[in-house]
Amino acid sequence: MFKPIQNALIVIQTLKWIHTLLGLINMNINKIKWINKQDYILITGASKGLGFEFVNFLSQLGIPLICVSRSTESLKKFKKDNNIVESNLIIFSYDLSVESEVFELLHEIKDYKISTIINNAGFGLYGLFSEVNLEKELNMIDLNIKALHILTKKFVEIFNINNYGRIINIASMASFSPGGPLYSTYYATKAYVLSLGQSVNTELKKNKSKVRVVTICPGPLKTEFWKTSIDKKVSKNKKDIKVKTMDLKKYSRKSLYKALKTKNKNYIILGAKNKLLRKCTKIFGDKTILNNVYKFQKSKLI
Ligand SMILES: NC(=O)c1ccc[n+]([C@@H]2O[C@H](COP(=O)([O-])OP(=O)(O)OC[C@H]3O[C@@H](n4cnc5c(N)ncnc54)[C@H](OP(=O)(O)O)[C@@H]3O)[C@@H](O)[C@H]2O)c1
Repeated sequence: MFKPIQNALIVIQTLKWIHTLLGLINMNINKIKWINKQDYILITGASKGLGFEFVNFLSQLGIPLICVSRSTESLKKFKKDNNIVESNLIIFSYDLSVESEVFELLHEIKDYKISTIINNAGFGLYGLFSEVNLEKELNMIDLNIKALHILTKKFVEIFNINNYGRIINIASMASFSPGGPLYSTYYATKAYVLSLGQSVNTELKKNKSKVRVVTICPGPLKTEFWKTSIDKKVSKNKKDIKVKTMDLKKYSRKSLYKALKTKNKNYIILGAKNKLLRKCTKIFGDKTILNNVYKFQKSKLI
């Protein structure tokens, strides 16, 4: 390769590192005026992946957390390993795809002072719509849509009382696509999450409320999401994802910080590729995007 090109690439890479480093140093939660660090943050899907990274980040900042997922071993181990006091990491095991369990959770936490809820629990299902298991799809709709809807509604009501609090919903870059062949129901659930969040957040802003609903839209991240989304019966020999993913730790911290900090944004997109992708969904026609999503999803899994 030409020396000048090589040098330019080194400079770009160095600038990228400096930019990332400065970004991480700048993430001082004390700068976010509306947050009271004594109040709890509730995180669903906290046992692994993105949710677990949120737990890691926030507990380092000394923010008390209420964590929810079906399995709780990883959270108990985290609490023990880091000597976290009982009241700073409350762990609940609930299957949030079951409506009655969502209401049980709401009852259980009614006496905690909560400033923020992160609706993160969710999963996907890969395969042709005609082949994907209906029961699993309905379970996904119950978790990705129904549980998130109930918690968003109840916490908007609770937060409105004191004009204080924030709901952070985890959608996906999939939310911006007109559809998601080979992940059809998952894409539809994430379109719902973004649509609901943007509408409610706009209502809140128009009513001069300080309460916010901010939607984080991640692109591919290396978590168990991909393994969970593969049903061996319909996806034959597909086992894992082969696309380049963003660094999970960095992504979780930066996206959460931005979602907590923003005054007016409805959603958070991080990374040049994701931002470009969002532009493409505005420029290109639906058919072009759908054909490309199909190609991408077909090639992405190995
Ligand atoms: N990974 C990606 O590439 C990607 C991209 C865009 C958006 N997202 C979104 O990011 C969010 C987090 O996903 P992830 O990538 O971190 O996946 P993950 O590693 O599979 O984690 C999913 C979390 O949700 C919990 N969960 C699953 N089903 C549940 C249920 N019925 N009730 C309660 N908790 C449940 C899991 O815990 P238990 O199994 O213990 O219940 C786990 O803590 C999801 O909403 C996903 O759609 C992910």
